[in-house]
Amino acid sequence: MTVEMALENITTEIKNDVLIITINRPDKLNALNKQTIEELHETFVDAENDKNIRALIITGSGQKAFVAGADIAEFANYSVEEGKQLSSIGHFKIFNFIENYSKPVIGAVNGFALGGGLELAMACHIRVASSNAKMGLPEVSLGVIPGYGGTQRLAQLVGKGKAFEMIVTADMVNAEDAYKWGLVNYVTTQEELLNKCFEITAKISTKSPVAVRTAIRVINAGFNNKQNGYEVEIEEFGKSFASGDFKEGVTAFLEKRKAQFPGN
Ligand code: COA
Repeated sequence: MTVEMALENITTEIKNDVLIITINRPDKLNALNKQTIEELHETFVDAENDKNIRALIITGSGQKAFVAGADIAEFANYSVEEGKQLSSIGHFKIFNFIENYSKPVIGAVNGFALGGGLELAMACHIRVASSNAKMGLPEVSLGVIPGYGGTQRLAQLVGKGKAFEMIVTADMVNAEDAYKWGLVNYVTTQEELLNKCFEITAKISTKSPVAVRTAIRVINAGFNNKQNGYEVEIEEFGKSFASGDFKEGVTAFLEKRKAQFPGN
């Protein structure tokens, strides 16, 4: 993959067919400023067309934080209009973008995931946390509300009651509670965090890229109030029968061999 822009705040690394994106502002606990949002967006756009990348992992640099939120210093003097813009650009460029991404994205939550950090993790399809992770939406402590999808996605993941409690108290939850509540899929030690993510991506790599992409779209359709998830499922299920991946998958099964999906 070729990332044309010089990246200041993120680093990328490819391991087998997985792109690992690390947010790299450790002195600011990896807080998301505009530049970081832009760099993340460009990286995701770039990786989308790269057939060699089957899944992405996003994590934070250092031992302490995944992402400690949107960069508070950057928005401290914003007007109403600028606040609205900040939120809508974030939704468009990162949070909705990742949620609807065509390849699975795993959030490797290696420490504090607060505000925009937890929102980033929640936009990912799967979350794995290290046992030191602390997660919360503390925006009401600052006199704002979550603006990167947190009010919606937290309720989807943990239910409305827990979401209300976390948002209005600004309390942080530890990894163990986050696991119990369904906010993260797994908890590991910090050392094992990426390995657990690779265990998941290794499974994805053997599956049909077309079917994986379609499954992401259809699952999301059920959470989009302009779509009927069941109807979208029927349509997309039918379309699967025209794909090269389907032909190969079924043929391989009948021939008792591993499928080599063409990805079309
Ligand atoms: N935006 C901008 N800078 C941030 C930040 C954020 N969201 N979170 C942390 N930082 C910066 C701090 O200002 C500090 O910078 P400095 O050394 O230049 O002063 C540095 O990161 C280290 O943070 P610090 O607060 O000293 O670490 P800590 O261990 O004492 O506390 C936290 C860790 C996560 C509890 C604390 O940093 C915090 O509450 N951060 C804000 C979380 C938040 O409200 N996020 C939602 C934003 S909408």
